[in-house]
Amino acid sequence: MPNKTMTAEEQKKLVSHYALNDLVSRGVLRSGMKVGLGTGSTMMPAIHVLAQLLAAGKLCEIKAVSTSFETTIACEELGIPVYSLNSREISGSLDLAIDGADEIDPDNNLIKGGGAALLLEKIVAYNADQFVILADESKAVPNLGTRFPLPVEVISEARTSVTQQLIRLGATAAVRYGVKKAGPVITDNGNIILDCLWPSDSKCNPKSLEGIINEIVGVVENGFFTKLRPTVYLAHADGTVELR
Ligand code: 5RP
Repeated sequence: MPNKTMTAEEQKKLVSHYALNDLVSRGVLRSGMKVGLGTGSTMMPAIHVLAQLLAAGKLCEIKAVSTSFETTIACEELGIPVYSLNSREISGSLDLAIDGADEIDPDNNLIKGGGAALLLEKIVAYNADQFVILADESKAVPNLGTRFPLPVEVISEARTSVTQQLIRLGATAAVRYGVKKAGPVITDNGNIILDCLWPSDSKCNPKSLEGIINEIVGVVENGFFTKLRPTVYLAHADGTVELR
């Protein structure tokens, strides 16, 4: 009987186990591959499953590229070798990137960056041959940008000027503040985050906004991911996993 009441945390563990094993059994994730590893509470169990697959000999010689301090620490603790994207072993391109997401629309466009790791996550994903997203069902939405705020990574000196231009694009923009840290969140790259929301009745067009926002001077990157069509594994509260 399916469990009808799986919490989001349980769904994250479920989708991690299901997806990693499915990727191995379908030959999408193979020994010797260069694999980008995303960041967040869905990726943490996924990295544990990857370590279990390596320990069990179902995979070997995986070369990981990390997207954050959090993911690097997890890999180091679990014995997964981490390389720079620039290293001779990786040489700037990956076979596969695996990550979580904050919002997924029906075309598998994404918002990412809830953990403020969007810059490295996008560099890794956009330089991978294949991109796979693991998520619980709360992440599936009809349209992006009106519920979960779009993170925009900004050089701190441009905070006010970028905010004004984001408002001209129809959004509200608020500096993200730290928890157990006074002042703004500072990303792994030394920048701040502006969290942007569009009104629910607006015509927020992520495909065009991804490029338009990045043209604003002082913006480093934004969390719309619309130039890839990832494979999405979506866990549901009834204990099933949908592949879409
Ligand atoms: C981090 C991200 C994460 O993938 C996204 O926030 C999802 O996080 P979680 O798996 O914890 O729900 O983009 O920058």
